[in-house]
Amino acid sequence: MIILYKVFLQNTLFLVFPMFNQEIPTVGISKSELYLLLARQVSALFDGESDFIANAANLSSLLFYSLTDVNWVGFYLTKGNGLVLGPFQGRVACVRIALGKGVCGTAASERKTLIVGNVHEFVGHIACDSASNSEIVVPLINDGTVIGVLDIDSPLFGRFDEEDREGLEKIVRIFLEKSEV
Ligand code: SME
Repeated sequence: MIILYKVFLQNTLFLVFPMFNQEIPTVGISKSELYLLLARQVSALFDGESDFIANAANLSSLLFYSLTDVNWVGFYLTKGNGLVLGPFQGRVACVRIALGKGVCGTAASERKTLIVGNVHEFVGHIACDSASNSEIVVPLINDGTVIGVLDIDSPLFGRFDEEDREGLEKIVRIFLEKSEV
């Protein structure tokens, strides 16, 4: 199966997964290959569907079941002066985060992706799931406005790196292009 995916990657005619709920094999492919596959799957998944909440819900599920060593994947959406919990996968989470607070609120106010290798060393980190040890937060920027963030937690320390940033920022761009904000 893995060999097939590798062949697909090298073809210009990439074949999208026939079933939307098919999990991507994470063993034997590099992180960059995984993000390439995910970007293509996200693109196909959202073709013909622009509902923002539905796409956010499916994206959190796709990432939760495709990325290794993650315990929470989801969205916080801008409402008024803060962030409010959106579609997610994982344990029950805190609902409201003020801008500038926690990793999510800081990424939103600084308008940039934050990678935190050890959340216990991040001043102001908001602990929703005690299993989380590292985190990446990617802001959703639409026409210059931060409309929310994508938040991913891991039980591993130092789980996220520049390849995750690049891959997830690309996936977020596709999500925003395809969804009606
Ligand atoms: N840790 C986040 C809060 C959200 S949970 O991780 C789901 C933060 O510090 O903003």
